Amino acid sequence: MTKITKICCIGAGYVGGPTMTVIAKKCPHIKVTVVDLNEERIAAWNDPDTNNIPVFEPGLSEVVAEARGRNLFFSTAVDEAIDEADMVFISVNTPTKTYGAGIGQAADLKWIELCARQIARVSKTDKIVVEKSTLPVRTASAIKDILTHTGSGCKFQILSNPEFLAEGTAIEDLNAPDRVLIGGDSTEEGKEAMQALVDIYANWVPRERILTTNIWSSELSKLTANAFLAQRVSSINSLSELCEKTEADISEVSRAIGTDSRIGPKFLKASVGFGGSCFQKDILNLVYIARSYGLQEVADYWEQVIIINDHQKKRFANEIIRTSYNTVNGKKIAFLGWAFKKDTNDTRESAAIYVADHLLFEQAKITVYDPKVQESQVYGDLDYLRSRDPQENRFGVKVTSDPYEACKDAHAIAILTEWDEFKTYDWQRIYDNMLKPANVFDGRNLLDVEKLKAIGFQVKSIGTA
Ligand code: UDX
Ligand code: ADP
Repeated sequence: MTKITKICCIGAGYVGGPTMTVIAKKCPHIKVTVVDLNEERIAAWNDPDTNNIPVFEPGLSEVVAEARGRNLFFSTAVDEAIDEADMVFISVNTPTKTYGAGIGQAADLKWIELCARQIARVSKTDKIVVEKSTLPVRTASAIKDILTHTGSGCKFQILSNPEFLAEGTAIEDLNAPDRVLIGGDSTEEGKEAMQALVDIYANWVPRERILTTNIWSSELSKLTANAFLAQRVSSINSLSELCEKTEADISEVSRAIGTDSRIGPKFLKASVGFGGSCFQKDILNLVYIARSYGLQEVADYWEQVIIINDHQKKRFANEIIRTSYNTVNGKKIAFLGWAFKKDTNDTRESAAIYVADHLLFEQAKITVYDPKVQESQVYGDLDYLRSRDPQENRFGVKVTSDPYEACKDAHAIAILTEWDEFKTYDWQRIYDNMLKPANVFDGRNLLDVEKLKAIGFQVKSIGTA
């Protein structure tokens, strides 16, 4: 029986950081070391004030404070941590390729391969290697190939253990997951490795919620879960446009269909479009894989989820332009929210980035307020698109830490993230300081429309006429 006493996790990001923190909390007998090449990131994880850790997640800083220094460590000494561990998790980023074959669709596995080679190079003892990052199906075989051809004499078992946590609720999701999925080989060694990981989760997860499958099923299930969730959002968003043309109200439609127990109420909230590091990337992966096997219809089917999402973001920006007498040139537009959802400082693929980009092409002047996102992140996100010179992004976009300042003298306000605090603002004060007509575009159907209209605002929500 393999008993795990030391874990190393490569990658101290949104997945590795919170996941390992919870494993360390729940398994005080296991030493957990999270390593990353990024020195600044590791320094932030080690900041004496746990409010300064690099990932904002409700409840995370408290758990870090409890476990850090006891059995949870953050370090840049990657080789040492790999070498001493019995189990190595790979939690590095796997962005969509920005070059070469599969550009814009396939996952860039450069970092995964580097990790596998590093594990192969430094290991002096047998190890279980766990894929935590979302990966295209059959990545495990590439990792295995690299590890088994090292000639070091060490034996490696590869497991797939996809993460299903959602940002903003990561700690809750990790504490009480709907299920934990572990994929591995059906050989004796494979089964033993799976059992070692099952034993770790069994410290707090009921055994019946820990599912074991073959490795490919596990890899594909992660892509499929995200594709299904994103598909629900695109389905409801596509109908939001129809609601806007008719007398139907998308919130009422969502409620009506969500009460059917076969459909269920979750992930039916119309919005300016889904974002986050997973949905788009995973669907693009699915599409790419399907195409690479010649499954054109399957690929086209899933691609449509992305097409609707892009359409929704563009539609939202166009509505702002249309309502602004078809020009936003030189007009101040206030953005409330930049993160891809509330309760996170993550902005990857956030709808806000694409709406801003579209409005900047029309020469709008945007002022952004987000309670958790830094100015440098906003500029970084826009620069990454390479739509224009970095200086032009800084000329067109200002970032402020005061929401009232953001809205002062604005022609329009756009709600891009559903932060709770937006509901509690002094909307009369905001109205008094805006240009008239004062327009609010609520991309999250968050605000009390009747109250805003009574103040004098013109309000445009998603999915209502
Ligand atoms: C997702 C999956 O939920 C999670 O299981 C997986 O591990 C990673 O990807 P995450 O991206 O963190 O998690 O957030 P999620 O809550 O799924 O939201 C994704 C996007 O969809 C957000 O932009 C959110 O605002 C949007 N969304 C979600 C909607 O627009 N409407 C909804 O009803 C639900
Ligand atoms: P995720 O949301 O998947 O956690 P992040 O980008 O937040 O993605 O985190 C991934 C982390 O992995 C980054 O901090 C990056 O520096 C780190 N990383 C990537 N490659 C390596 C590597 N070979 N060794 C150590 N850390 C790595």
